[in-house]
This record gives sequence, C-alpha cells and structure tokens, in this order.
Amino acid sequence: MSGRIPPEFIDELLARTDIVDVIGTRIQIRKAGKDFEARCPFHEERTPSFTVSPSKQFYHCFGCGANGSAIGFLMEYDRLSFREAIDELARRAGLTVPVEGGVAASGPDHAPLHALLARASDAYRELLRVHPAASAAVEYLKGRGLSGEIAARFGLGFAPAVGDPILTRLGVDQAAQQGLLTTGLIVEYEGRRRDRFRGRIIFPIRDRRGRVIGFGGRLLGDGKPKYLNSPETPLFHKGRALYGLFEAQQAQRQPGFMLVVEGYLDVIALAQYGLTNVVATLGTATTPEHLQLLGRIAPEVVFCFDGDRAGRAAAWKALQTALPTVSGHQSIRFLFLPEGEDPDTLIRAEGVEAFRTRLQTAQPLSEFLIDQLSRQVDMASMDGRARLVSLAEPLIQGMPGGIYRDLLNQRLVELAGLSSVARPSPSRPARAGVARPGMPPRPNRPSRIALAIALLLNHPELAERVSEVADDWRRWSNPGVEILVQLLEMISSHPTLSKAALVERWREHHHFSYLQRLSVDPILGDIPLEGIVDEFLGALNRISEDVRKEDRRRPLNQSTTTAWSEDARARLEREAAAARTRRR
Ligand code: UTP
Ligand code: MN
Repeated sequence: MSGRIPPEFIDELLARTDIVDVIGTRIQIRKAGKDFEARCPFHEERTPSFTVSPSKQFYHCFGCGANGSAIGFLMEYDRLSFREAIDELARRAGLTVPVEGGVAASGPDHAPLHALLARASDAYRELLRVHPAASAAVEYLKGRGLSGEIAARFGLGFAPAVGDPILTRLGVDQAAQQGLLTTGLIVEYEGRRRDRFRGRIIFPIRDRRGRVIGFGGRLLGDGKPKYLNSPETPLFHKGRALYGLFEAQQAQRQPGFMLVVEGYLDVIALAQYGLTNVVATLGTATTPEHLQLLGRIAPEVVFCFDGDRAGRAAAWKALQTALPTVSGHQSIRFLFLPEGEDPDTLIRAEGVEAFRTRLQTAQPLSEFLIDQLSRQVDMASMDGRARLVSLAEPLIQGMPGGIYRDLLNQRLVELAGLSSVARPSPSRPARAGVARPGMPPRPNRPSRIALAIALLLNHPELAERVSEVADDWRRWSNPGVEILVQLLEMISSHPTLSKAALVERWREHHHFSYLQRLSVDPILGDIPLEGIVDEFLGALNRISEDVRKEDRRRPLNQSTTTAWSEDARARLEREAAAARTRRR
C-alpha cells in the first residue's frame, strides 16, 4: 500500500520514545512504585486511576478503560490522527518517517497552503474592521444578535463585493496564485482570476489544531447561493471537517456531549448563549469520520434537526451511518426542533434554559429507530408487528454485537410480542470461546484463547517458551486462534517489542480494539505473578485439546501435532510445577 508507514518504523519509533516523557509533559504524573500515576485526563476523577508503565510503554485508566501506547495517547489527548501522532513522535525522536511503496509516506508538504489560508483569514478579519463597505457587515452581525467578542472568537471576517483583495494582496506571483487556486480562494473564469468570496461575511473553518482549512461565506441579505463554501481541497474535506470543533475544544476540553447542528450561525449563536459544545456539519450528511471524531471527544452525541419531513429524513440518514458503530460506548440521541425553527432562532426566542430543557428530551437512537419504523406499519395488527420486525432485522444485523444490540433486540421482541428478532450476539461467557465467523470472542470474561492472548500481550516473554506453532492450529479458522498464532510469530521474530509496540502492530487490523481491551482485561489483575506461566500453559493446553477435537472432526485430517515440540512442553510443565511449588 502506498503511503503506508512500515511497521518496523513504528517499532523503532516506540522504542526510541518514552511514554513517561510524552505523557509527563502534558499532564501531571507522579511516581508510584515502578509505574507512574495521575488523575485521568480522559474522565473526571478526584483520585488517580490512570497509570503509565515505563516497562510496558503503555498507559491505562482503571476508571474509564482508556489505554494504549504513546501514539494512542497523542491521538486521544492532542486529538491527532494516527499519521499526525507518528509525525509528532518522529520529530521528537529526530527520526524521518520513511517511504513505503515509492510514495513519500508523509505526503505532500501542506505547510505553505496552511500559511496561505492563515494569511487570508487575517486579511478577511482586517477587512471586517477597516473596509469602507464593512459597516453593512457589522450591522448585519449585530442584527443577528452577535457580540463583537463572539465574532472575534470565531474569527469572523468580511469579503467586499468589489475588488479582489485576496488576489491582489496574496497573489503576488504565479506560485502564490497557484496556491490560491489550490485552496479555492480565487477562481478562474473566462481566463480571468478573481476572489471566490465576494460580498459575504466570512467564517473561517479550522481543524482540530486550530489551523484554517477553508472558509464559508454568507451573503448579507437574500440571494443565491446564501452560503458559499470552500471546495474540496488538499486541506479541506467536508466529510471530515466539523465547523466549530476547535472553538468548542478551546472552551471545554471534555464535554459530556457534543451537539451537532446544521448551520454556521447556529454554532455561533449557541456559543454566545454559553452552549459551547456545539459543531456543525458543512452542508453534508454526517459521515462515519464525523462520528469517529466526535466519539473521541465526548461519550455522547446529540444530533439536532428540524422537526419537518426533511429533518427527519436527515436524522434517519445519520442513524444509518451511526448504526454500524453503536456499541454502548458512544451514546447517540436526536433532538427535533419545532418545524421552521433552527437552534439560532430558538435560543433567541426561548433563552438558554428552555433550550437546555429541550436537550434533555432528545430521543435515544433506539427510540428514534423504533419510532420511525412503527410509523410505517400498523402496530395494532399482528401482521404489522411482524413487519416491524422484518424492517428492523437488517438494521439490527448491521450493528456490532454487544449489550446495546441485545437490548434493542429485546425491546423489539417485547414490542412485537415475538420470541426473537435477530440472532442474539454471542456474548454469553459460556459461548465466548466459540466465536462467530469474523468476530473474535468477546472479552467480558475471557475465554481460554482470550486469556492466552491477554497474558501474551502483557508478558511477551511467555512466547519464548513456545518453540513452534503446530499446523493444526493454523488450520483452525478461529479468529482468536489466528490472532494468537500471529502474536506468537510476531513476538518470536521481534522479541524485544514492548506491549505498546505489540498492540500498536494491530492498529490497522479490524480486531484492534478487541486486542486493546483484552490487553487491560481486569481478570489479569487476579492472576498472581507466579501463576502466570501456569495459567498460560494451562490455557494453551486446553486450546490444543480444542484444536485436536476440531481437527478430528475433519474428514481429511492428516496431522495431530501438538502446538509445541515435546521438549518445550516438558520444559514448560517443569516450570509450571516449580511455580506451583513456589506459591505454596
Ligand atoms: P440553512 O439554509 O439552514 O441556513 O443552511 P442557516 O444556517 O439557518 O443560515 P441562516 O440562519 O439563514 O444564516 C444550513 C447550512 O447548510 C449549508 C451551510 O453550511 C449552512 O450553514 N448551506 C446552506 C450551504 O452550504 N449553502 C447554502 O446555500 C445554504
Ligand atoms: Mn438559521
């Protein structure tokens, strides 16, 4: 894959990075035994349950479950993308991010474009203060109830209708004009270059780090188009950007929820009334990237829509986008406003307290789903209720397994008066080891496979004791066993990887979050240190038995080799016996 960062580089990077430094320069940590502890930066707490382990190069909060490597910490805390976190750590370590597949892994250098947009933003702000025609813009903003302070917080600017100030001020030579074209600040029309934004209030759109990536512009009066946005550019992707995110984060680092609205001026008006945890999508439907981004910021997302038909349709679209990700970790609710109102008009009419009260009535995703489907059928008849179930089934099947899906399933069953809607997720401990295809066993009580994986992640040296992996293990297409085998191989070819580096190697894998959770499974804390070899051996033995049983069931079974050579097995058993004796 071009542009991919080679895993060996990430190993190297993590080996040269000290997670204690990375975290210690961002939050206050203090030594506690061989580890460090702190108050968790990811949830509110009074007593520290956040630990940083120098030996594992891993952090973990026992309170909220957050955990990961230095890369993961930067992604969460500095809200960087994976790529940005790598760049940051590489910079610290004095390493150059290498090239794979012939394409510079770091991609083109966008710094000049960022600088250009920053200058354009400054120019627009200055024009709002000094341009002879700007008084109309100032009046317009005042007329919409905005204070100078809030206009400054959002960096609002002005693009006059006549003249091309951006082109003339910033497009001093061909190279500069090329930059302006690339970022969509000027347009070429019939061989002539002109400013894109004319006669408009300018809203700079910033990324999470506060860099301007694009603009929106509103006409001062009526006319079309009412809003003009920057086009898609190398810096600006509507499907990923959220207007107001940077400003929201400046005001409140860890909001309890994020409110998603539709308009620029909704965000700004709500902020003026003290509701700062608000962002807007930029004239597009909510994307999975938006949800992912929001999920890193707050445990709950409230989507706000107009109560009319179009609003409900938009909400349904957001629901469909959200379903494949809902897991109970991120709660999603929908707030419908009275027809014809938007958050801006409503908060002005009702005030902030009434708006907060409305927020409390927002409908949970499950309720909205059932509500919408029930409208399509006749709930009074049995046929209708059966139809409700068949409408719901594909939606529920599209959700990840887990408690949330089980609950929704159960709710539908009750409503329909039936015995089951969709197959319940295999989350019961008794079935935990027998995974559905494509799904690893769930870690709520680790199966023997999960236990072996968890132990291995935390004590990679255990892998030394396994001299080879038998063929019958490889033949068994069980996702858990596949992970275990790959992990054993990974460790034997890279014996010095820390836990953080090991987990990091799975980042691109669809079982990454499963592994991440397993690596900090609380059950590990119940195993005494001297019992670890014992437990690991025991788990491997039982898995081997399962594998053999599975293999015997196969008609063309040729081999029943054990998972490790007899030698290694004898040694392991001796060690286990020794560990047992020590414990007594
Ligand atoms: P609305 O039409 O709901 O406008 O567009 P609004 O936000 O209430 O604007 P005001 O209050 O009349 O000023 C919602 C969002 O849709 C995008 C913009 O992002 C806008 O904020 N939009 C709308 C466009 O991109 N272009 C348009 O012409 C209209
Ligand atoms: Mn509006």
